[in-house]
Amino acid sequence: MKSESTSEDLPSEIKDHYRERLNKYTRRAFQMIPKIENPHILDVGCGSGVPTIELAKVSDGEIIGIDINQSLLDKLNRRIEEEGFSDRVKTVKCSLFEIDFPDEGFDIIWAEGSIWIIGFEKGLKEWRRLLKPNGFLVVHDEIKTISDKLEKIPSCGYKLINHFSLPKDAWWTEYYRPLEIRIKGLYMKYRDNSEALKILKKHQDEIDLVKRNPKEHSSAFYIMQKS
Ligand SMILES: C[S@@+](CC[C@H](N)C(=O)[O-])C[C@H]1O[C@@H](n2cnc3c(N)ncnc32)[C@H](O)[C@@H]1O
Repeated sequence: MKSESTSEDLPSEIKDHYRERLNKYTRRAFQMIPKIENPHILDVGCGSGVPTIELAKVSDGEIIGIDINQSLLDKLNRRIEEEGFSDRVKTVKCSLFEIDFPDEGFDIIWAEGSIWIIGFEKGLKEWRRLLKPNGFLVVHDEIKTISDKLEKIPSCGYKLINHFSLPKDAWWTEYYRPLEIRIKGLYMKYRDNSEALKILKKHQDEIDLVKRNPKEHSSAFYIMQKS
């Protein structure tokens, strides 16, 4: 893990470390897309960019990550530089409700953990114009209402190429449980830092919610092609 120098840095640095354990599913979804040379990829709601960096590693593409949170984008920008991707990965502060890019500019739109903000159906419809003909949209979203979502895909102008669910307890065993163990250790380390403790408590509350029903907190990838 990178430095934990300030309480402001704390949550995203810790979370990213464990979030990377789920990158194997990002890779699996990416492999379901036919090979495209130098794809132009838009990562919607990229946050601090764990999947963005993974996409840069598995592709030779040019990637734009968009998010409304500038401090997360600043973290991603530092990571882009550290990993040596500055020539082909960049970030733009922008709301996913108002994506201001020309029509048909992207081969792939990638959205992990962000489509719920606009809604599955609306996101599919509004982002379609940004894709080149036959371009791909990959969404990682909660598993609830999976059959409704699968049904909506054709009427939103896409063909379903593939989909898969993460193992039912993947988020618990691979992310939340190790995160909880780490946070418990940090309570000791930051016992005199009230700001850090407040942040840790916020994250522990989220973990407690998942802990009550780990299998509820499951997710799926949808790999779609513009039709
Ligand atoms: C659950 S995180 C997902 C981050 C990253 N894609 C991942 O999978 O690790 C959701 C992200 O959506 C961003 N977000 C929330 N509302 C947004 C909006 N209106 N426009 C763009 N991004 C937004 C948040 O700042 C956050 O980074």
